Amino acid sequence: MSAATAAPSPIVSLREADRDDLDALLALEHAAFASDRAERRAIRHAIASPTMTLLVALLDDASADPVLVGAATIERRRNSRSARLSSIAVSPARAGFGLGGRLLEAAEADARRHGCSRLRLEVRADNWAGIRLYERRGYRRFAVLPAYYEDGMEAWRYEKDLGRA
Ligand SMILES: CC(C)(COP(=O)(O)OP(=O)(O)OC[C@H]1O[C@@H](n2cnc3c(N)ncnc32)[C@H](O)[C@@H]1OP(=O)(O)O)[C@@H](O)C(=O)NCCC(=O)NCCS
Repeated sequence: MSAATAAPSPIVSLREADRDDLDALLALEHAAFASDRAERRAIRHAIASPTMTLLVALLDDASADPVLVGAATIERRRNSRSARLSSIAVSPARAGFGLGGRLLEAAEADARRHGCSRLRLEVRADNWAGIRLYERRGYRRFAVLPAYYEDGMEAWRYEKDLGRA
């Protein structure tokens, strides 16, 4: 196919979520997680909360409206330099192409921007894609939480030093 007729490659952009993203965020939650899903109310709260950031990844192939294909939620606490990545998800059809890495980098940048010097998270001990994502990007496992998830699976806690805030 010549360059003139080739379809433009889709572009993924990141931005903060707004109320109009609620339905797509809920659909992503159902597609990406088999259990322990966030409910609509919790997602709405994350969008509005001044101590949380909900980032969304949008795929834009210029032929239709942008499609929400990923999201990450970062939580902060007053008087704490530690932020928590409480959720990260990529649409199953788009997994394995580096989008999780981009969202994670954006989450780290957001935490730094809010004065945090550390990002922490929990991941299911059987979530190989998540564990690989975090370990390849410098996260260190520092604790195990037994029976943390609805089905009794343990959680591994990871953290990363983000440098000087
Ligand atoms: C975990 C998750 C966010 C990773 O997103 P992603 O876009 O696949 O991330 P990346 O493409 O950056 O890949 C992360 C690593 O897993 C590997 N991987 C992820 N999905 C894969 C797949 N379906 N097939 C092969 N490899 C895969 C990637 O190769 C990569 O490893 P590498 O850095 O050695 O190449 C995504 O799989 C997901 O949404 N999972 C369901 C929700 C979830 O478990 N969230 C984490 C909760 S803590």
